[in-house]
Amino acid sequence: MKALIARLERERDLPDGDLLSLLTAEDSAVQEELSARARAARRGEAVYLRGLIEFTNRCRNDCYYCGIRRSNGRAERYRLTPEQILDCAAYGHALGFRTFVLQGGEDSWYTDELICGLIRELKRRHPDCAVTLSIGERERESYEAYFRAGADRYLLRHETALESHYRRLHPGDMSFTHRVNCLRQLREIGYQVGCGMMVGSPFQTPECLLADLRFLQRFRPEMVGIGPFIPHRDTPFRDEPAGTLSLTLRLLSVIRLMLPEVLLPATTALGTIHPRGRELGILAGANVVMPNLSPADARKKYLLYDGKICTGDEAAECIRCLSRRVESVGCYIAPGRGDYPGWLRRGEGG
Ligand code: 5AD
Ligand code: FES
Repeated sequence: MKALIARLERERDLPDGDLLSLLTAEDSAVQEELSARARAARRGEAVYLRGLIEFTNRCRNDCYYCGIRRSNGRAERYRLTPEQILDCAAYGHALGFRTFVLQGGEDSWYTDELICGLIRELKRRHPDCAVTLSIGERERESYEAYFRAGADRYLLRHETALESHYRRLHPGDMSFTHRVNCLRQLREIGYQVGCGMMVGSPFQTPECLLADLRFLQRFRPEMVGIGPFIPHRDTPFRDEPAGTLSLTLRLLSVIRLMLPEVLLPATTALGTIHPRGRELGILAGANVVMPNLSPADARKKYLLYDGKICTGDEAAECIRCLSRRVESVGCYIAPGRGDYPGWLRRGEGG
């Protein structure tokens, strides 16, 4: 295994069979070696901050895994007004945040006009900040308008790279092809793009994860969001087991070794399945943390899965807690927007 990991580090790739054996290895020595090599590949101890603003939990979709799916009549729905969103950002800016991630369900109450106005206002008030959108599948014209308004980045997890698996996680009115087309359009328009998948989602096999890794290698996203699947009691997947810590850590390390410069968050879901999940994620090669800037009342309602952590704290407390955690594993919170390194080199003839 050690030789395989060394080869993965050197060549940033492995044949299918070798990747599968790494993913399915039960031995904890394998993770230790993967983590050590992934930390070396990451080069440095900088961890980037993103302030997450969960601005609506209304969603037109009905993903079987998600707690805010439209059929969940028990979810208490909310929407933040543009003023509330701008207040969250101002608060975050004062605390040192230079990236704001606007995340929400697919909610057409927020028209393109409204979103564009919000982006322009965020950029006017905080010109030193990056704006990231995470608002799902929309039309190409909409993506173009947000980009012109100043949005820098877009997160849209592909969820799974196997169409057959995608169909088992989503109802028939959602399509894998459409999702991947959205990702391609975002890339063409000029966004820094993030994709990703849940680890241990129902019906996921090692072959699904292999397909995910191949997809990441082809698409070359600037960011990869992965976290364990965690069941939500009011969804069809309520009785499914959660994804495991060990498999999530292994994937974080393998992704770091394949894409050494990629921005890789230690997600809230990882912190939810294990008290030191995010720290272990950073030790496995992650380099982004995303504290929640949403108002306390919204936080309690943006529940994609059961047991979500950080739903009670004040934003300032979240940051203190996360900084301590980051420092406890020998890393530090880097100031600034934290753009993808290759991004800054683009357009320099490279
Ligand atoms: N467990 C873990 N992650 C989830 N997501 C949605 N529902 C769950 C769940 N039950 C993830 C999806 C989505 C992102 C915003 O949150 O991957 O893209
Ligand atoms: Fe909202 Fe899946 S339930 S996008």
